[in-house]
Amino acid sequence: MKKQWIVGNWKMNGSLAANEALLQALMSGLNQPACGVAVCVPSVYLAQCQALLKGSAIELGAQDVSQHEQGAYTGELSAAMLREFGARFAIVGHSERRQYHGETDAVVAAKTQRALAGGVTPIVCVGETLAEREAGKTEEVVKRQLAAVIHTNGHCISEIVVAYEPVWAIGTGKTASPEQAQAVHAVLRAQLQAASSNPARVPILYGGSMNAANAAELLAQPDIDGGLVGGAALKAPDFLSIIAAARKN
Ligand code: 13P
Repeated sequence: MKKQWIVGNWKMNGSLAANEALLQALMSGLNQPACGVAVCVPSVYLAQCQALLKGSAIELGAQDVSQHEQGAYTGELSAAMLREFGARFAIVGHSERRQYHGETDAVVAAKTQRALAGGVTPIVCVGETLAEREAGKTEEVVKRQLAAVIHTNGHCISEIVVAYEPVWAIGTGKTASPEQAQAVHAVLRAQLQAASSNPARVPILYGGSMNAANAAELLAQPDIDGGLVGGAALKAPDFLSIIAAARKN
């Protein structure tokens, strides 16, 4: 894995025309990025984006993956299907899925396992709500969320990507300060290191109102290995600025 990754999460945004315009602008603005770059698109657009991104430095990802391998699970998409359409990554356990789709820690752990088995790198999201932060429970919550994933995937934990996304910072314009984010990243780093016999560094991305103005300071923190970017990933100049702010080594 490269040292830093900037990953766009398009969420439920886009259209055939808008996707093409955005990807063309990104590809023409991107010359040999120092970091890894990926976009996690709505799955119906994977085929379109796979074709557009052929030969480019931008990797493709999905925003979710089924916890099942195949079968009678109406509406679900398997890791193998996503892989077939070029998805190198799948976001797993995003707070919007935990909140609106009832995904538990156990489901997130199972999805992580299925993604790995299907050759898709899971980007496992953890993060506390505002109430949890104010109650002094941030560390307890993120450790519990990550522990479930480690419990089920301990043997290959070095192959995942983690994203720390404080729920109160998502789509709100409120970013965790670089110090707040670094403190949680350090906790997650220690937990991952204790769980793994493999010295490979698990990338830990920060997500939550990352933008062109605050990216450099966040990305300069020692345990922040990149960003998972929502709103700012939909505007080519903003996303390109964040990519340019990534550490060079
Ligand atoms: P925003 O960057 O829009 O706050 O979204 C962050 C996020 O949820 C990325 O997964």
